Amino acid sequence: MKLTILGGGGFRVPLVYGALLGDRGEGRVTDVVLHDLDQGRLSAVARVLAEQAAAHPDAPTVTATTDLDDALRGADFIFSAIRVGGLEGRAADERVALDQGVLGQETVGAGGIAYGLRTVPVVVDIAQRVARLAPDAWLINFTNPAGLVTEAMSRHLGDRVIGICDSPVGLGRRIARVLGANPREAWIDYVGLNHLGWVRGLHVAGRDELPRLLADTDLLGSFEEGKLFGTDWLQSLGAIPNEYLHYYYFNREAVRAYSQAEKTRGAFLRDQQAGFYEEMSRPDSAALTAWDRTRAEREATYMSENRESAGAGERDADDLSGGYEKVALALMRAIARDERTTLILNVRNQGTLTALDADAVIEVPCLVDANGAHPVAVAPLPDHATGLVCAVKAVEREVLAAAASGSRATAVKAFALHPLVDSVNVARNLVDGYTAVHPGLAYLK
Ligand code: G6P
Ligand code: MN
Repeated sequence: MKLTILGGGGFRVPLVYGALLGDRGEGRVTDVVLHDLDQGRLSAVARVLAEQAAAHPDAPTVTATTDLDDALRGADFIFSAIRVGGLEGRAADERVALDQGVLGQETVGAGGIAYGLRTVPVVVDIAQRVARLAPDAWLINFTNPAGLVTEAMSRHLGDRVIGICDSPVGLGRRIARVLGANPREAWIDYVGLNHLGWVRGLHVAGRDELPRLLADTDLLGSFEEGKLFGTDWLQSLGAIPNEYLHYYYFNREAVRAYSQAEKTRGAFLRDQQAGFYEEMSRPDSAALTAWDRTRAEREATYMSENRESAGAGERDADDLSGGYEKVALALMRAIARDERTTLILNVRNQGTLTALDADAVIEVPCLVDANGAHPVAVAPLPDHATGLVCAVKAVEREVLAAAASGSRATAVKAFALHPLVDSVNVARNLVDGYTAVHPGLAYLK
C-alpha cells in the first residue's frame, strides 16, 4: 500500500508517520512517498521520520521527491497538506486584513478568502494530475481552507476526494468526556461547513445527553467551548459551536486581540518553524527532540488570542494531543480494509442540508467503508446557522469562480459578501492589498 504525502516537507508529517507506525494490521501502508517543492524541507522531515522509525523493524519505507507526477503514479492514497505561499503568506493574509480592521485568520473571513484564492488554482492542477495519473487513488485533503479546497478538487475527482479536519473530532471528544460517555459509543449530531459547524446532540444508546450538559452550568463551563463562548451563550444557542465560530460570535473581540498581539499566529509560526528547519540543517541536531519541542509549543499556543480575549485560560492538557493524524488513519483504514466506521468529514452534500445544492461540500458525520464516505441524515440546522452556512458557501463559490475566470471583480465580490467584511470598499482595499503582496494572486485581472 503506497501513500503519497503532498506537502511532504510539512511540519505535521511526523504526526501522520507516527500513526502509521502504530498500525500493525494487515493491508497497512508499506511505502510512504513525500513530495514537496523544497528539497531542504523534505530532508528535514525525512530526518525526523528516520528517528521515529528507528525502533520499528517493519516501519514503512520513506522516499522523497520534488517531482509531482512521479509522486502521484501508483499511489493508493494521497494526502494533500500543502501551504501555498508558506507561512510568510499566512502572515501577510493576517496583516493585510488587520490593516483594514477585519479578521485575517487562515480559514475564516478575509484571510481565508485570500488563502483560498491563491490555493484553488494550485489544487485544481493537482486534482487534474491525480485524475490522469492515479485515477483509482483516494485523495484525503488536509489543505486549508479544507472545505473550499475539497470542493474545488471534487469538481475533478468526484467523491474520491474527502476533506478532513480534527476540530469537530476534538469537540465531540470533549463533550463526550465531560458527559462521562465513551466517544466511540456516542453518536454526535454535528453539521455545517468546515470550521463552521454545530453539535446539536450527543446520543448514547439512543438517548440524547446534550440537554443534560446544557442544563448544568458547572459542567458546561468546565471545557474549552464553555470557556471560550461562555455558558450563557451556549445555553441560548442550545448547541455547542465549533471553536472557529468564536471568530463570528465574538468577532470584534477577536479582531482586537489579533491586532494587539505582539505577533499574529502566522508570524509566530513562520518564525518558530524557520528556527526548526534551520536547526534541522545542522547535521548534529537531534531531529525528533527538536520536532517534538516545537510541536508542543505550537499546540499550547493554538487560538491563544481567542482564549485570552474570552478569559478562558490555558488549554486543557487532554486537548493538546491533536487527533488530525488519527482521523486520517481511521479514514484510510475504513476505505482500504472495509472497516466500517463513522467519521465527521468534508464531502458533497447530496441532499443532507436542504438549503444547499448536492455538490456543495459540507462537514457532516459519514459512514465510511470500502466504497468511500457517505453523509448520514442529520437534524436540520436552525435558521441563523443555515443563514451563516449559506452566506459562507456563497462566498466560497465566488472564490471558485474568481479562480476559474481570473476576474478581479469576482474576487472583490467574494470578500464583499462575507459576513465578517463590513463594506464593499473594504473588500476593494483587501483585493488591492492582497494582490500587492501575493505573487500567487497575479492571475486576478
Ligand atoms: C486545527 C484546525 C486546522 C489547523 C490547525 C493548526 O486543528 O482544525 O485546520 O490547521 O488547527 O492551527 P495552527 O494555528 O497551529 O496552524
Ligand atoms: Mn481544520
